[in-house]
Amino acid sequence: MKKLKLLIAILIIANTIACKKEKKEIATDSKIETKQELINRVFTFSELQYDSLIHRIEGNMPLLQPRGVTEDGDLRLKPFQDWTSGFFPGTLWYLYKNNNSENWKNKAIKFTLALDSVKYITNSHDLGFMLNNSFGNGYQLTKNDAYKEVLIHGARSLITRYRPVIGTIQSWDTTPDMGWISKRGWDTPVIVDNMMNLDLLFRAFEYTKDSIFYNVATAHAKTTLQHHFRADYSSFHVVDYDSKTGKVRSRETAQGHVDSSSWARGQAWGLYGFTQTYTNTKDSLYLSQAKGIANYIMTNKKVPKDHIPYWDYDAPNIPNEPRDASAAAITASALLTLQEFVPEKRTEMMAYAESILRKLSTDEYLAAFGKNQGFILKHSVGNIHTGEENDKPLNYADYYFLEALSKWKELE
Ligand code: GLY
Repeated sequence: MKKLKLLIAILIIANTIACKKEKKEIATDSKIETKQELINRVFTFSELQYDSLIHRIEGNMPLLQPRGVTEDGDLRLKPFQDWTSGFFPGTLWYLYKNNNSENWKNKAIKFTLALDSVKYITNSHDLGFMLNNSFGNGYQLTKNDAYKEVLIHGARSLITRYRPVIGTIQSWDTTPDMGWISKRGWDTPVIVDNMMNLDLLFRAFEYTKDSIFYNVATAHAKTTLQHHFRADYSSFHVVDYDSKTGKVRSRETAQGHVDSSSWARGQAWGLYGFTQTYTNTKDSLYLSQAKGIANYIMTNKKVPKDHIPYWDYDAPNIPNEPRDASAAAITASALLTLQEFVPEKRTEMMAYAESILRKLSTDEYLAAFGKNQGFILKHSVGNIHTGEENDKPLNYADYYFLEALSKWKELE
């Protein structure tokens, strides 16, 4: 009996030592995943995941773009007119860029060409998202002149929305067919997100040398800088202008918590948009705006240690509020560009972006293979008020995540 007890004790001790050793190895392993290993792992996984996503949609005619997942857990597919239609082909271009595979190039081409008619759209301000991420990335990677023509045509459609008395591109129409937007009593609403559509105009200026594109883009950026931001560089989501006088009628929110709060993705769009406007103009006005927004985000006490923000920086029940992986991914991508122009903050910005990317690359945010309807990331918030895309995968979270990883890969 004594011998048996001794044997059991020896086995328990041996098992404990083995477990400790194993845990130590796992901890060491996860600690030493290098940047390159992480990037390889995530891209390899993303290829498998997007293969499965394409498999789910390929039979659809006309070809629809996957946007996210419905409340019932089904794939949410959208036609070319949807503001998110450019993200899926854009992500396919990043998969191609990562390893130059003809397979991904062909898929990217197929889903990009499905958006050709976007260039005729004049009732949406989102042409930058739709065309720049699809045809724009396609042009950067292939130099196919036909893509350039689509971008120029789309930019001409976009500037039909420019309102010279105000100095901005109108974001949303307010006609009766615009659902909840029609009911808000707005005259000329402009949302901070609209900063993201300016790069299309800068590209059109580069290709045509027609200064109208540059002038509209910089006027929009200046007006937004003047009216959308508070002293602490947090932003109002919507500014409504009077089209006759150019004066501000009201400052409100649509997707944020309340008018006075700071919607997380709006901050990310602002950061990205002003960083991009600075890279296109080299006007220090925009650099200092981007730095101010970055400072607001990076010093915000309500952001958890892993730097994945809640859906609104002022959401009422923090920490019991959903996080927004899309805002985190956009922020990481913007910071990886901005750091280049801010040497005194470079280390801090790089570390912040790295922290986001490492967290998004854990099981907490990265989907399990074959799950999440084929999307890469979990846990984004589209518009919390509609309840439709609350804590769900979204194609734009995937897009900016792979974009940020692709930028990180190229940085020292
Ligand atoms: N309008 C773009 C967004 O929902 O972030």
